Amino acid sequence: MPIIKVDKLTRRFGNITAVDNVSFDVEEGTIFGFLGPNGAGKTTTINILCTLISPTSGRASISGYDCSSQPSEVRKSIGIVFQDTTLDKDLTAYENLMFHAYLYKVKSADMKDRVRDALHFVDLFERRNDLVKKFSGGMKRRLEVARGLLHRPGVLFLDEPTLGLDPQTRASLWEYIADLPRKHKVTIFMTTHYMEEAEICDRIAIIDNGKMITIGTPDELKKTIGGDVIYIRTSDNKKAKLEIERLFSLEAVEKDDELYFTSSKGDACIPEIIKTMGETVLSVRLQRPTLNDVFLKMTGKGIREDEVSSNDTVKEAVRAYRRRRDRG
Ligand SMILES: Nc1ncnc2c1ncn2[C@@H]1O[C@H](COP(=O)(O)OP(=O)(O)OP(=O)(O)O)[C@@H](O)[C@H]1O
Ligand SMILES: [Mg+2]
Repeated sequence: MPIIKVDKLTRRFGNITAVDNVSFDVEEGTIFGFLGPNGAGKTTTINILCTLISPTSGRASISGYDCSSQPSEVRKSIGIVFQDTTLDKDLTAYENLMFHAYLYKVKSADMKDRVRDALHFVDLFERRNDLVKKFSGGMKRRLEVARGLLHRPGVLFLDEPTLGLDPQTRASLWEYIADLPRKHKVTIFMTTHYMEEAEICDRIAIIDNGKMITIGTPDELKKTIGGDVIYIRTSDNKKAKLEIERLFSLEAVEKDDELYFTSSKGDACIPEIIKTMGETVLSVRLQRPTLNDVFLKMTGKGIREDEVSSNDTVKEAVRAYRRRRDRG
């Protein structure tokens, strides 16, 4: 069942079309990601969904409530972690959460338990009486995630939740976020421009210049690249090229001292190559397509050239999460 429905959504600011005829659905209990560069229209879309601004045209609904005509119902169904921090720095972590619980009319008998549970969930219970201004960036983000969940929303929006955090903190924040759908029965709508973080999503929409370019699971998107690229170096590349063409009916390209070719079943090709070419093989490597390859193919440019370079700590955390998820 889709919990978020977006239909031909458009938002203009003067002559800028920040969101341009965007349509998609988000299934309940999943992590959905908007991946796109600066100014792509990610925050503007979130702002419409969160009822903070209205669309120029098109419709959006959350839990069946229309974002333009039923804003109060929508607001009760959502939690939000804004791109820029909105905690009160002169209050303690505990006070920030109690204040939010009060604003959202959490029953007073439940308030203390809810706040305590939320603080435990993000491992900040021991620091509950510290002023937020003494918190690190990662602790503030975790506290904001806890706050966003306090009133038990059906959908939690996370706008660039890890922006500006160091790699270790980003990795540990993902540990919390990845567990949310299972532990809190909440649907996540997140934005990011970090490729490796987008891998955590069940589905991703790539957005650029207000337009949605493509949508799918990370694996589906990567498959559009046409498969894995296999690089092979042999003692006789001319002969190996003919052999690859004979074995797989695929054309191999010679580049520098290597041959490469693209295959949808890269894993299966490698043993076949070793078996047939034996000792003439000096090296074989397989490169899986990345979301950056997808973005490059679709837009002709990288997301943010300076930040695209992969980060091993975050990548490893995301891989560990996917392994856990796939094991069930
Ligand atoms: N209130 C506004 N008034 C005028 N233009 C706006 C306003 N809000 C956003 N825009 C413009 O709309 C476009 C999309 O902005 P938006 O903040 O949605 O991008 P974003 O994808 O969230 O980018 P970032 O990754 O930098 O957060 C930009 O060109 C921006 O300048
Ligand atoms: Mg933004």
